[in-house]
Amino acid sequence: MKRVAIFISGGGSNMLSLLDAMEDPSFGAQPVLVLANSAKAGGLAKAAARGVPTAAVDHRDYSDRAGFEAEISKVLDAYKPDVICLAGFMRVLTPEFTAQWENRMLNIHPSLLPKYKGLHTHQRALDAGDTEGGCSVHLVTAALDDGPILGQASVPILDGDTASDLAARVLVEEHKLYPAALRKLIGELE
Ligand code: GAR
Repeated sequence: MKRVAIFISGGGSNMLSLLDAMEDPSFGAQPVLVLANSAKAGGLAKAAARGVPTAAVDHRDYSDRAGFEAEISKVLDAYKPDVICLAGFMRVLTPEFTAQWENRMLNIHPSLLPKYKGLHTHQRALDAGDTEGGCSVHLVTAALDDGPILGQASVPILDGDTASDLAARVLVEEHKLYPAALRKLIGELE
């Protein structure tokens, strides 16, 4: 049984979709930690309610990324995950940290990469006149939102869509795509 840590910054709906999926014994992985970069992240209470250990490491308590990540690594040492899933984790990680987790750290990003790395993805798709939006799960490398893509899902952009309409339509797909991509990666790990 592989051990999965999930990093969040907010409400954690993707985190919950991963927890749900891992309840199936055939998934081959169990959640061992949900970590947020703020004690106020709404997903922490949801994870705790599901019996998953939680931790908060607030980036504002550290003068640089290396210090923040050293504390995260200390927490990870205690829970010993095999895989990290970034699920709405809104901090950029250093190349040193991403190298330590090479091929074992995934991210979900709300665009059809390589389009729209970074923020405001849905508004940028609307502004560009795109006819579809979507989401991508990828391995995390040193470059932001840039690693090998493990899976994508697309949705139509409809007349009159706002960014939040599109975000809601894409989120439905995120909740299916991320567990499927994680399941595949877990199956491929030794
Ligand atoms: C999701 O849409 C995820 O794709 C996005 O944040 C949202 C988190 O929602 N991630 C990023 O923008 C990463 N750069 P959630 O907390 O409900 O899962």
